[in-house]
Amino acid sequence: MMMRGNGSEWRAALMVAALAMPFAARAADAPPSQAAQAALQQAVQKGADLFAHESFGGAGTCETCHLNGGRDRGKLPNGKEIPSLVGAAASYPRYNPRAQSVVTLSQRISGCIRNALKGTPPPLGSPDMVALETYLTYLSKGTVMGRQFQ
Ligand code: HEC
Repeated sequence: MMMRGNGSEWRAALMVAALAMPFAARAADAPPSQAAQAALQQAVQKGADLFAHESFGGAGTCETCHLNGGRDRGKLPNGKEIPSLVGAAASYPRYNPRAQSVVTLSQRISGCIRNALKGTPPPLGSPDMVALETYLTYLSKGTVMGRQFQ
């Protein structure tokens, strides 16, 4: 078959196809395999357990301040607001005034373990940190991503 049309039309058509591609087929949109579901559920469960029970060598647990598995808001004894963690994961990476830089969710979790729990954070990317990150991301399921951008 002969191709009609000049070169720029074809280039334009290819570009449209390339731009549309990222929206067409994402791995996360495919029906999740049983293995994927099981692994994610395990990570959420492990993260929830750590959240409720692990003190990372410090005093208390995440649950001491972030009540109801992080779903509720609260207040520190000094009156400082404790935010609900529902939706938090969807607004990272975010600017952190204390660090004066953009930080990821796991860096923010590390910060809370160091400063609030007075503990030693698990290394970034370690199974415990991945589990905490997965649990917090699960709490944000369905919330709008990217509210930190104007
Ligand atoms: C002593 C109380 C306390 C403990 C314990 C604590 N946090 Fe926090 N956390 C806070 C407060 C207060 C804030 C919000 C104020 C701030 O930004 O410093 C916060 C903020 C956060 C945020 C950022 C939320 C947002 O919307 O940006 C995350 C994520 C977080 N905590 C996770 C954790 C995890 C995970 C643990 C346990 C490993 C934990 N925190 C333990 C008090 C605590």
